[in-house]
Amino acid sequence: MTRTLVGSRAATARREPPRVSRWSSIPELPWAGSALAFTRRPITFLERAHAECASDIVRFGYFGKTLYSVRGREATELFFDSVNLDLKGGFVEIFGGLLPKRFLGEEDDDLYAFSKKRSVFNFGAYLDAVHVSTDEVLRELGKSGEIDLFELSSQLSFRAASRFMLGETIASPGFFARWRELFFATNPVESLGRFQWNLVNPLFWRKQNELFAELEALLARLIDAKDPVPPGEERSFLELALNTVYARKSREQAVAHVYMMFLAAYLNPTLTLGWTLVDLLRRDRENPHRFSVQDELRRAHARHPDGPLPRAALDELSILQLCVMETLRLRIRAVNVRKIVNEPFVFRGCEIPVGALVCNSPTFAHLDPESYDAPLEHRPERWLGTPELERATMTARYMPFGTFAHICPGKKLSHVWLKVAISELFRRFDVEIAGSIPNVREGIMPVLADRDGPCIARYRRRA
Ligand code: HEM
Repeated sequence: MTRTLVGSRAATARREPPRVSRWSSIPELPWAGSALAFTRRPITFLERAHAECASDIVRFGYFGKTLYSVRGREATELFFDSVNLDLKGGFVEIFGGLLPKRFLGEEDDDLYAFSKKRSVFNFGAYLDAVHVSTDEVLRELGKSGEIDLFELSSQLSFRAASRFMLGETIASPGFFARWRELFFATNPVESLGRFQWNLVNPLFWRKQNELFAELEALLARLIDAKDPVPPGEERSFLELALNTVYARKSREQAVAHVYMMFLAAYLNPTLTLGWTLVDLLRRDRENPHRFSVQDELRRAHARHPDGPLPRAALDELSILQLCVMETLRLRIRAVNVRKIVNEPFVFRGCEIPVGALVCNSPTFAHLDPESYDAPLEHRPERWLGTPELERATMTARYMPFGTFAHICPGKKLSHVWLKVAISELFRRFDVEIAGSIPNVREGIMPVLADRDGPCIARYRRRA
């Protein structure tokens, strides 16, 4: 039986959603114009697309495919309330065009299901890894100096993610340095950067392939060197995977999966921590939250003077939690292109067919004046008493960790990690912003907005 996903307001007659045409500068290749515009400034493109078509549902060409965009509370609620919980779409959909096929492997349901298991992300097992990594990075900062806040977050996140994803061996200096170098050289966000033209440059791909081969060899060595760990005693994502799903996979598939999982575990946490620090420390506007958070941390550290805050004390950092939530709301500037409907989706009389790629950008939800007073203002206190705070859940107006069936399995873990990183940084250092605040750089790959430059901060270790 075909169930049809329709809203109460859906009309019975179905038609195709309006097609965006204005940016299709090459008529014979109608998708090219849209795709290029889309990859450069996705949100701007989508905003204009919806405005041009005067519709909350539009379609346009995207690298040879038709992509649908739905926006607004009504459409989002429809998705949320829907029975269409099997919305497909995984890593291959995102990276398909960007990584060599050999490296990517085929879409694999087992691997995909494994990466989504909440139990795989049981943070309790990884808290030690986060403490050790945070301590290492903060020690390496020395007594005082200047650093880009995003570089600092990148170091904290890379080290913590390496430990809890891959285990202790990653910390051996030669391996760690080369892995980091190769990861940055090959990850699509860093390597393609703004220059989407690299996509059609064969020399770029030749070089990328060499780098991928090296990365593959390095990760394969790590996998082969792992001693078996009895089930139940696993301390890293890799150990869990080797005991379960990787046992049935080729080494190539395991390598590809580790690489992609690492991308998910590193990228958004880095940007979330970077922007949270920027928002907490900025002085270019009235910012009482900076002092409230510092007071809250001082009180917590006074109760636990001997080391990092225990889990329960981290959970009680409620002002910091409000600030993180507000940063996550405001800093999302990208498109979540990850839904493939597997049942017809009908919205305002327009039908999105089975198999179509649909995006429902959190940016629209997060900046919607119907959902928020003064949506462009940074007001952490707006979350007090809300279900989003009380139940730490995603809703049709707040979805920084994604939506529907594809909600991020690292959500809980990331909230705890962010609090460890921030509380340890402020416990050990006085930090203040010394340079200008960067602007948001729109992107398609990271769900969270990238920055268009550094945010230099001065730090001094406390006595
Ligand atoms: C602040 C940190 C993070 C943010 C803001 C974030 C955000 C997101 C978002 C928006 C999605 C897309 C969901 C969708 O398609 O609707 C996602 C998916 C995912 N994230 Fe995260 N994430 C974070 C941290 C992590 C961490 C630490 C891990 C792993 C340890 C992780 C693993 C994943 C995985 C595996 C998916 C794919 C889920 C699926 O497609 O079903 N994320 N994340």
